Amino acid sequence: METTNMINSRKAIREYKGQMRDWQLDSILKAGYAGPVGMGEYENYRFTVIQDEKVLSKMNGIYDAPTVIVISVKDPGQMEFISTGCVAQNMALEAENQRVGANLNMACLGSIPEGVIPEGFTPTFAITLGLTDYEFSPRAISLKRFKTNFVK
Ligand SMILES: Cc1cc2nc3c(=O)[nH]c(=O)nc-3n(C[C@H](O)[C@H](O)[C@H](O)COP(=O)(O)O)c2cc1C
Repeated sequence: METTNMINSRKAIREYKGQMRDWQLDSILKAGYAGPVGMGEYENYRFTVIQDEKVLSKMNGIYDAPTVIVISVKDPGQMEFISTGCVAQNMALEAENQRVGANLNMACLGSIPEGVIPEGFTPTFAITLGLTDYEFSPRAISLKRFKTNFVK
């Protein structure tokens, strides 16, 4: 999909129609790996792919998503929180490219069962994923959505 169209078509998908294929997941993870993090300190981040129904059933606010990828960080500060947003957005865009529904998610972070996230890491962001029948097409995004100041 052409980049500008993809960006304008991206949308929070909260209704899922089943589990994506492993190759779609691989592609979404690779998009995450391609994301930027502050100081390039990739060793401080961890992705956890959750597809175990027992674990998912204990997590709040995930809209019955069949896959949740949690990004966690060692000792997160402002730079790390921002970085996880960049990485998650890469995954959301690649999900769309794969015609997989995705939504960024913070609501589940406090309900991840113990033992799921590796010791020493704090969950900072998540993305819910699953198949969708939503037809992605460019949305008319209001130019007033973000008030913007220009300094010229
Ligand atoms: C930092 C952040 C946290 C979010 N957390 C949640 C969440 O917990 N649950 C949810 O349904 N959506 C969550 N969202 C998605 C936003 O609600 C959604 O992106 C926003 O309403 C704009 O809609 P759109 O993505 O369709 O353009 C989050 C988005 C961001 C950037």
